[in-house]
Amino acid sequence: MDSSRISLRPFKLSDVDDFMVWAGDNQVTRFLRWKTFKSRDEALTFIKDVCIPHPWRRSICLDNRSIGFVSVFPASGEDRCRADIGYALATQYWGQGIVTIAVKMALASVFKDLPDVMRLQAFTDVENKASQRVLEKAGFLKEGMLRKYSYLKGQIQDLVIYSVLATDTLSN
Ligand SMILES: CC(C)(COP(=O)(O)OP(=O)(O)OC[C@H]1O[C@@H](n2cnc3c(N)ncnc32)[C@H](O)[C@@H]1OP(=O)(O)O)[C@@H](O)C(=O)NCCC(=O)NCCS
Repeated sequence: MDSSRISLRPFKLSDVDDFMVWAGDNQVTRFLRWKTFKSRDEALTFIKDVCIPHPWRRSICLDNRSIGFVSVFPASGEDRCRADIGYALATQYWGQGIVTIAVKMALASVFKDLPDVMRLQAFTDVENKASQRVLEKAGFLKEGMLRKYSYLKGQIQDLVIYSVLATDTLSN
């Protein structure tokens, strides 16, 4: 994939039809807490009420059309030093290095955009090998496995936790 075709930008209401392509796909939402979107109206409300006001949620775009998302959610109070990262991509583009490019782009700006954040962390289902590989390629450190840590769509999960520090990205 030519990385000059990939960009990150805030969501717009006009992304709704492109958004439905991936947010309406069970394969994409399988490892996400999101339920699969069923209607354009539901997607429009979500873009307006959740994506646009979100502290740091970007559309992953190919030639400026939305094909996925990467989002960083900072914690608050005494946990404000850390933030969680999540992402997903339309299935037709899997395996071309796009999310790795997007996560690296996010790393290049998120520590500047959210100056309290010193640690970016990601939780992946132990079975989600593609996501673990993305994090490794983007320079995250695998910190360990969290056994029976949470439920996802009714199933108890073992999660693998990864992190990267602001100081790691400076040294790269
Ligand atoms: C996980 C996901 C974001 C990966 O996006 P992507 O753009 O396809 O990722 P990349 O192409 O950058 O890298 C994927 C890597 O995983 C590897 N991979 C894919 N499936 C794999 C599997 N079953 N086992 C091992 N490695 C696998 C690929 O070979 C590639 O590694 P490589 O470059 O060393 O060959 C995408 O599959 C997705 O949207 N999944 C659904 C949502 C999701 O799981 N989000 C993350 C929640 S934590």
